[in-house]
Amino acid sequence: SGRLILGIESSCDDTAAALVTESGEVLASVIAAQEEVHNAFGGVYPEFASRAHVVSVIPTIEKVMADAGATPADLAAIGVTRGPGLIGSLLVGLNTAAGLGVGWNVPVIGVNHLRGHLRSADLEQARVKYPAIILLVSGGHSILARMTGPGEIAMLGTTRDDSVGEAFDKVGRMLGLPFPAGPAMDRLAAQGQPLFKFPRPMINEGLEFSFSGLKSSVARHMEKHPDARLEDVAASFVAACLDVLEAKCRLALTEHPSTALVVVGGVSASPPLRARMAAMCEGLGVELCLPPLRWSTDNAAMIALAAWDYLRAGLYPPAVPQVRLPITQ
Ligand code: KG4
Ligand code: ZN
Repeated sequence: SGRLILGIESSCDDTAAALVTESGEVLASVIAAQEEVHNAFGGVYPEFASRAHVVSVIPTIEKVMADAGATPADLAAIGVTRGPGLIGSLLVGLNTAAGLGVGWNVPVIGVNHLRGHLRSADLEQARVKYPAIILLVSGGHSILARMTGPGEIAMLGTTRDDSVGEAFDKVGRMLGLPFPAGPAMDRLAAQGQPLFKFPRPMINEGLEFSFSGLKSSVARHMEKHPDARLEDVAASFVAACLDVLEAKCRLALTEHPSTALVVVGGVSASPPLRARMAAMCEGLGVELCLPPLRWSTDNAAMIALAAWDYLRAGLYPPAVPQVRLPITQ
């Protein structure tokens, strides 16, 4: 069988394809983003996302195959995101993968998107040391977990309401930033001072998160103080998020001593978050494992690398959509 897995990702608003070897070398990666499609709505508009996937999925796969000079004979499998995600978006990638699998006579593996993020820190180079505490912070999820080996995952905590990325995007919208707001929020915050003491929800209460109260306080603050500098509001909001994330990771590492801290998901692209985690890990003598920046946000290379884990274990989860899917499955 071939030496590459073709990864396909379409769970949200990016259509992505990548070709990855078993050791995590990325031969080619193509991402067709839909920012222009959703910008006017300040969030992902599900029906438009599905339609944009329909238009871009085949060209994206053709391009990645051409970029790597690959043929179907080079493929050991196709790994495609089966969930969690938007039903219409998932169906486009899954049906495309199913068709290609039949046509090319290649097995199709339904991959958990969250497992993909976990593997992103091992792309290009193996970085993750076990046992590890995992902080997964994306648009859809805020998860603390512990891994004792690849695929051996125990949940420690998740969010009661909004994810961190969601809070970034919703507060970003209040500040007039384009969607997704993460990168623009970081740039704005860098020009301000954390003058406003926003709440740090549940900071001393275990390993669960809550971010919707923080978002509401920012909204109330902006109503009461319409002349506050947006840079300072952004800096104060980011400071509150970072304080919470640092406190939770610190507690997880204290309660479950581990060799490494792995921070993945779209928000792990944030420079201030990376700096904060690096300083904390240095103090604790824990190794910090981060994906290269381009693999922090959604991509198909991480899906392909996760698919290698399934293939090695002889697992072939069916390529059917699972809108909700825990990280442990
Ligand atoms: O992992 P991801 O690409 O998609 C999901 O699986 O949800 O994460 C997207 C999230 C968005 O909320 C976006 O605002 C945030 O990641 N994000 C960032 C940065 N880049 C993306 N947040 C903070 N700083 C960034 N540089
Ligand atoms: Zn994601």
